[in-house]
Amino acid sequence: MKRVEEFLKKAGTYYLATVDGDQPRVRPFGTANIFEDKLYIQTGKSKDVSKQIHANPKVELCAFMNGEWLRVAGELVADDRREAKQAMLDAYPSLQGMYSADDDNTEVLYLKNATATFSSFTKAPEVEKF
Ligand SMILES: Cc1cc2nc3c(=O)[nH]c(=O)nc-3n(C[C@H](O)[C@H](O)[C@H](O)COP(=O)(O)O)c2cc1C
Repeated sequence: MKRVEEFLKKAGTYYLATVDGDQPRVRPFGTANIFEDKLYIQTGKSKDVSKQIHANPKVELCAFMNGEWLRVAGELVADDRREAKQAMLDAYPSLQGMYSADDDNTEVLYLKNATATFSSFTKAPEVEKF
């Protein structure tokens, strides 16, 4: 899981896919932070991405960096605890202009039943589950 977090942080941007009925949706994301041994992402409850996750928590994300790409498939679980939100905001101070742990919008979610696959053109894929 640490390797996944490090890859996502170093890549800077990953692309998060959700399911919207029978239509896949994808958008750039950047947040990735381990808290209490779980890998969290952050969004706003007002966004379509949040509504899609609540309707169907299965997601997949993809990031590419230095000839290597990472895909993580899994489910997202919302954690409404203040401390989970604050840990994310502490890790991403730039979010603090838009979000706070006490507003009604900030949402953090962790991955469960996740399968991470690190791939490249030059070696066999490496799979990690968490
Ligand atoms: C580089 C980059 C990183 C982003 N990271 C996040 C993020 O971590 N969380 C988030 O909610 N939005 C993030 N956004 C904004 C979303 O991509 C944007 O709000 C998008 O429209 C959300 O998807 P939706 O329209 O399907 O709800 C990021 C945008 C960019 C360009």
